[in-house]
Amino acid sequence: MQLTPAQIAQYDRDGYLHFPEFFTAAEVEAMRREVGRVSEIDTEMVVREGTSRVPKIMFRMHETDGATASPVFNAAVRLPRTLGVAQQLLRDDDLYLHHTKVNIKAAIEGSIWPWHQDYGSWFNDGIERPTMLTMMVGLDASKEMNGCLYFIPGTHVIGRVDPYFDTSTAYKVWSLTPTDMKRIIGEYGEPVAITGKPGSLTVFDCNLVHASGHNLSVQDRWQAYFCYNTVANRPRDVEKPRPDYVRSRNWKPLETVADDGILQAAMATA
Ligand code: SIN
Ligand code: MN
Repeated sequence: MQLTPAQIAQYDRDGYLHFPEFFTAAEVEAMRREVGRVSEIDTEMVVREGTSRVPKIMFRMHETDGATASPVFNAAVRLPRTLGVAQQLLRDDDLYLHHTKVNIKAAIEGSIWPWHQDYGSWFNDGIERPTMLTMMVGLDASKEMNGCLYFIPGTHVIGRVDPYFDTSTAYKVWSLTPTDMKRIIGEYGEPVAITGKPGSLTVFDCNLVHASGHNLSVQDRWQAYFCYNTVANRPRDVEKPRPDYVRSRNWKPLETVADDGILQAAMATA
């Protein structure tokens, strides 16, 4: 898939692009089946809250090894539509995944992610430059009622703002202070809700300021996140690195698969 110059200009201006219909219903179904299968596995990569069996986050489904490996997700991160678009936006053919995750924002219980920039955490992983982006895949409809994301368009250009470690939420994220947030919203304008149907895709810059609300609805909100970095920008060594499933050391450049790779992988494993 080739982005138009207008789409690239929009991404550079706003810090994100939203595609309402990116994956087919069959592709969404294939990914959802895999999320269901992996959610039952007991491993540190499937993070559960308290005694609940419903996971909060599931990591590293895109690799070919490890407890959470999923051939379907391994294909999903390498389609001409996903990897190809990431290569165009990052202006580099050699990309790898810093991590991938599926966030299951559980019905009623799933809670907020405070205002943050992803690069706030990734800088601490030893990554020198913000040549990174995330592809967010809607595996459910995302709505204001079920805890969709909010973006502040254009904020990627401000660069990394010094975060503080907010331990007050279920996720414990390197977050932006209330003082910084009031200044940023004053300057860049009101947040935009990123809502969509299952199968939507939203690509966003690692410095774009974003957050998400509580899931007040009775349906879970499943969303997958593929976080691409350039191989040239792989992290330097840091003291006490986070585990490989969040700070990958698999820096082999990703190779593209056929555009129907998700369905091929689903058939092969059926
Ligand atoms: C994130 O910002 O990394 C995830 C937010 C969410 O899933 O609601
Ligand atoms: Mn984030």
